[in-house]
Amino acid sequence: RFTVIQEKEGEFFGPRQVLIRGVRLTINAPSTGKDLERDLSRFETRSDDVYVVSFPKSGTTWVQEIVWQILNDGRISEERVESRYPFLEKSQLFDRPGDESDGQKVSVTSRPSPRLIKSHLPYHVIPMSKEESKRSKYIYVARNPKDVAVSFYHFVQSFDPGSYFNGTWEFFVKLFLEGKNSYGFWCDHVVPWWKHRDEPHVLFLTYEGLKKDLSGNVRLISEFLEKPLSDEVIRKITHQCTFAEMKKNSNSYVISAYATKPNLLRKGQIGDWKSLFSEELNKQFEETFLTKLHGTGLHFDTE
Ligand code: A3P
Repeated sequence: RFTVIQEKEGEFFGPRQVLIRGVRLTINAPSTGKDLERDLSRFETRSDDVYVVSFPKSGTTWVQEIVWQILNDGRISEERVESRYPFLEKSQLFDRPGDESDGQKVSVTSRPSPRLIKSHLPYHVIPMSKEESKRSKYIYVARNPKDVAVSFYHFVQSFDPGSYFNGTWEFFVKLFLEGKNSYGFWCDHVVPWWKHRDEPHVLFLTYEGLKKDLSGNVRLISEFLEKPLSDEVIRKITHQCTFAEMKKNSNSYVISAYATKPNLLRKGQIGDWKSLFSEELNKQFEETFLTKLHGTGLHFDTE
């Protein structure tokens, strides 16, 4: 059921892409790809797990930091974000025989509750319990696809040449329009999560909404997490989670050893798509993505 995609363009997106239930994923190590779907299907969620989910480059890191600070009464962590939040589809989900011998259990399953988990999996792939009592909380963040594409492009080409992507913007965006990037076609990711937005265990946010009213969203998330906070703590978190403040706190974002430019907290703006889009490309994005949202009620203010 896994297809390792070896199309020519796949080489530009890292060495290994796999298809899991129709979704194109780039995976880290060859050993994780083969068993990922099986592991995901037997992975047990817990009622106190919190998943921060998104299509890549939509504000995941931002929401991860907000959620952590909410659950920790406005404290800033001294631990790196990647240790606080395992990345579900890129992590070891179960302990393997022998792992215990050095006393180090590293799997997501062996982590104590409450677990915070990052994922870019679509709704139909992410582990979710059918039993109400075991159902976790899922906070999904979406961003307008134009800014996503620009942020994604800067991200993939910020690594050492050749280690991830070394093509042009035109080539990248062609793949993006065809859904040949990791995690596939943008609409296929965002719309199903949007359709489930009213379920009690799902909170759907947008990057643009966070930019416009950060404190309102901090409050909304704290209510969703059933973690009431005083106005003072909400104000503190709002301040600490602005772009400028988060940038000062290097534990809040992943710093890859292979990145040659800042890539996770790059610009943090709405409308940066204008720096790379032609009029023609803008039309293509409107037709390919935004008109597909008509009738769903989901709208992005792309400026
Ligand atoms: P840009 O590349 O447009 O700057 P993800 O975490 O999903 O990879 O998303 C990364 C994007 O979110 C980057 O966008 C990054 O700058 C932006 N971002 C992260 N923290 C932010 C914050 N506190 N405020 C605004 N944008 C933020």
